[in-house]
Amino acid sequence: MMGCSGLGQQVDSALETDSSAWPDGWAFPKDRISSVFGREAMVSTTDRVATEMGAEILRRGGNAVDAAVAIQFALAVVNPEAGNIGGGGFMLIKMTNGPAYALDFREKAPLSAHRNMYLDMKGKLTNPSVVGHLAAGVPGSVAGMWAAHKRFGKLPWPELIQPAVNLAEGLVVHERLAQSLRKHAPQLQQYSGTASVLLPHGRPPRVGDRLIQRDLAETLRRIALEGKNGFYQGRTAHLIDSEMRRGGGLIGLEDLARYRAVWRKPLTFQYRSYDVITMPPPSSGGAAMAEILNILEGYDLKALGYHSSAHVHYWTEAVKRGFADRNAYLADPDFVSLPTERMISDSYADIRRAEIGSDRPTPSDRVHPGLGLPVQSNLDHRANDRQHTTHYSVVDKKGNAVAVTTTLNTLYGNRVMVAGAGFLLNNEMDDFTSSPGKANYFGLIQGEANAIGPEKRMLSSMSPTLLLDRAGRLKLVTGTPGGPTIITTMAQIISNIVDFDMDAGSATAAPRLHHQHRPDVLRYERDGLSPMVLDNLQRMGYSVQAWPGYQGDTQSIISLPDQGLSGVADPRGGGSALNADDTRPVLR
Ligand code: DON
Repeated sequence: MMGCSGLGQQVDSALETDSSAWPDGWAFPKDRISSVFGREAMVSTTDRVATEMGAEILRRGGNAVDAAVAIQFALAVVNPEAGNIGGGGFMLIKMTNGPAYALDFREKAPLSAHRNMYLDMKGKLTNPSVVGHLAAGVPGSVAGMWAAHKRFGKLPWPELIQPAVNLAEGLVVHERLAQSLRKHAPQLQQYSGTASVLLPHGRPPRVGDRLIQRDLAETLRRIALEGKNGFYQGRTAHLIDSEMRRGGGLIGLEDLARYRAVWRKPLTFQYRSYDVITMPPPSSGGAAMAEILNILEGYDLKALGYHSSAHVHYWTEAVKRGFADRNAYLADPDFVSLPTERMISDSYADIRRAEIGSDRPTPSDRVHPGLGLPVQSNLDHRANDRQHTTHYSVVDKKGNAVAVTTTLNTLYGNRVMVAGAGFLLNNEMDDFTSSPGKANYFGLIQGEANAIGPEKRMLSSMSPTLLLDRAGRLKLVTGTPGGPTIITTMAQIISNIVDFDMDAGSATAAPRLHHQHRPDVLRYERDGLSPMVLDNLQRMGYSVQAWPGYQGDTQSIISLPDQGLSGVADPRGGGSALNADDTRPVLR
């Protein structure tokens, strides 16, 4: 492996000393992070109520998959901005002493979708890929939960849905929900059906109010009784179909009846002395993360110093290359043949690493996709910083682990509530390449491989991830929201633990960086890099920019050397981790 000789004359002597680990003013200093410790079973989600539901299922003898199913449905009620039954996601499962499984319940384009559906007569991109009926892909969440439970669940299915039914019948509004509804009330007002449920009496509910979601309770009851068919057939399916007809959307009864979640082989690679298990396509997360970490494996990052300009430089150059390939090549593997094996190989990382100079960045214009296949050029960009996806991690007392990242895509999805069914639909169609050369909501400029096609899954960045040590013992269960920043956040969490020996709390609290090839800008969380490092990076030629907010909302569980567990909810998001054994039952 190649060494790292330090950066050139420009930054010379500053290099050895400019490590900015936790700069002054950083919002989440290590000593302010509270980790939860336990010996047997742990849950971490973005919402305290959902975490308690998951913990209660574990206490009742459910396994990690049971808890995950209960959490998914609970989040659909308590966290309607991202938790869902109208969206999709990915689940990673590792049963103790067994192999890992990846479950793809990503949304699909409707049968009548076509590649130019968001372009007008002049080929100009119109905007319905983000808001409104046409933005919705065929939802996958209920099929995903059903498939996971069928294969691995222990407790009866209705028992896992009932807590969510109870919540929908009258949820005591907590601060997180009140704040979110308050902030997004203007957008929710755009659709009267949505406003009538989430903004009862014409205003956002206050903390302590009871929010009653009667139609959602009925829908959940149908799912509890009829399983997957309670969503994809019968009354719920007809309500979705009618909503689509009313609003000019494309999802029909046939789309719903044909939807299936898919078991896929997890994407695995080694990073130093650990095995990383993560999502394969149609998530781009695993492949991009593998390319990035494989490149970084050639550097002694610890010797460079955490967030020294040398560390940030090599990190950013690796990320640019991972994203150039991600954007160009990756897509739904059921439709397109992908160069994934090559992309995640050590030999390809060696080639990519050899392109990286020690003293200055390669401008993104000169970082090309490297796998030699024809790709689109990309020129435009836009970026966004809000978190609209949700991740949860569960470990049960047998050591079974589940990591799920699920989403409606952007906040409150396409903002359309299915009339009579009480849930929001996703706006995942925007993750496709709607218009070649144009950025999507997350500023990603993607390739032809990810063009829209009937029943195709749109490329994702969601990356629930597990880390195992060489003896096959579980080390980490993690994941995050953040669109493309999911990939960079996950790569950093892993490197923080593996390269810098951080515990779960510190690995979570550490300031985060992001680059996605286009735009050619290195983004950092405000106050997350020291002025000296920023100065050195700029002198090297980097364009740097502070995020207006924070990056990611990780929910992690880490195994401790003494066999215990530590759970950490990211302080950026206000979620909660809970040791399932040390709380009183909340359900009877
Ligand atoms: O699948 C994806 O990559 C996106 N739809 C995820 C969106 C997301 O994470 C939004 N949260 N900030």
